[in-house]
Amino acid sequence: MNPDRNPQHNFPDGKPEVEQPKWRKDFPIEVGADEYGARRDFTKFMVLTSLAFVCGQVWIGFQSLFRRREQEPRKIADVADLAVGESLLFHYPSERDPCLLMRTAPETFVAFSNQCTHLMCPVSPDLAQDRLHCPCHEGYFQASTGKPLAGPPRRPLPRIVLRIENGEIIATDVQRRNS
Ligand code: FES
Repeated sequence: MNPDRNPQHNFPDGKPEVEQPKWRKDFPIEVGADEYGARRDFTKFMVLTSLAFVCGQVWIGFQSLFRRREQEPRKIADVADLAVGESLLFHYPSERDPCLLMRTAPETFVAFSNQCTHLMCPVSPDLAQDRLHCPCHEGYFQASTGKPLAGPPRRPLPRIVLRIENGEIIATDVQRRNS
């Protein structure tokens, strides 16, 4: 017999079953069995948590693989599409990533993610002031660099790397920065 299952060994007061109070018949849980159940539940919990963690890591790995594939050079506009001081909304590297292309000088184009680095609200350009404004919590970024100027945002906007070729503006990469 499993010693953990022997009632004489498992009643908290150590007395045999015949000497136990009547109420204990209504609560016939053995201490050993109770601890065994708790250990088993804890092990089950640990295994399931580890499994969920592994699944999460695999999912993140797949996502970054697909993202890298999406991030291929792509034409986003013609140089002639924008006058100085104008901006254009486009999506890069995927259709879920809104970005802003801006012409800040005759030969200068810059592009940044259009999602505020605070809580992802869309920013709107004010190129006359060299600023991007986030209306959600009054955040401001410098339009020429994407760096935060005021309000809650602390990180700069991700920069879209551009290449100009034969009058076409091509997005080639995304630079995520911390400062
Ligand atoms: S979301 Fe832009 S400032 Fe809060």
